[in-house]
Amino acid sequence: MQVIIKENYEEMSKEAAKIIKDEILHKPNLVLGLATGSTPIGTYKELIRMYEAGEVDFSKVVTFNLDEYVGLPSTHNQSYFYFMQEKLFKGININPENIHVPSGIVKDFNAYCQWYEDEIDKVGGVDVQVLGIGGDGHIGFNEPGTSLVSRTQVVTLTEETIEDNSRFFEKKEDVPRFAITMGVGTIMEAKHCLLVANGEKKADPVSVLIEGPITSQVTASVLQMHPKATVILDEAAASKLNRIDYYKWAYENQPEI
Ligand code: PGA
Repeated sequence: MQVIIKENYEEMSKEAAKIIKDEILHKPNLVLGLATGSTPIGTYKELIRMYEAGEVDFSKVVTFNLDEYVGLPSTHNQSYFYFMQEKLFKGININPENIHVPSGIVKDFNAYCQWYEDEIDKVGGVDVQVLGIGGDGHIGFNEPGTSLVSRTQVVTLTEETIEDNSRFFEKKEDVPRFAITMGVGTIMEAKHCLLVANGEKKADPVSVLIEGPITSQVTASVLQMHPKATVILDEAAASKLNRIDYYKWAYENQPEI
């Protein structure tokens, strides 16, 4: 796992966007896994800036989002489909046919979850998966206790997640209790996992993600088993790590190989 600690949110976002840009330059038809939430907004802003500056072309990029609330139509202003349109897609030249956000409104969720997995497989799997981390340590909406080999499925949100996300809704009761999410096992198959986290509130789950035991109680900790995981933090999110100096030194003094 590579741990990158940046001074602040802006630097964290720029670093994440640069990694994504470099991957697209290397593979123009990159399969990019995307996350919602407040954390990646700065990364998406920076990607839009790069696109506007002519530094990156999204015309062949294919995207798969991690999750969606069950029951919210894509037109709902709190749906993750809506979020992605607003925060990224409308600012770049992505082909709408290449966008995949799981639907929260389907008749047969089991069949739909399998279909979503199949669509990912059809394009050869996710190349780079952007991730945030929940206050309860989730990746995607894989809440504490989720199997670390789970596949795309419908899940029940924890009280903590509902509380965290209620800031976007008029009242807490409006937050959906269920979501469809890529599984932990699905996420682990991405060739490169890129997790961003900022702020003091993330310091505890981040410390388990990087230095704690691997546990389904903090599903992000499974990334310790991923062959290529990059975690980009601001100082506040990194503040509870035991080996901060080592991570910083290792990042600044990488061997030329
Ligand atoms: P946040 O959410 O970026 O809004 O903190 C992260 C997550 O729940 O994965």
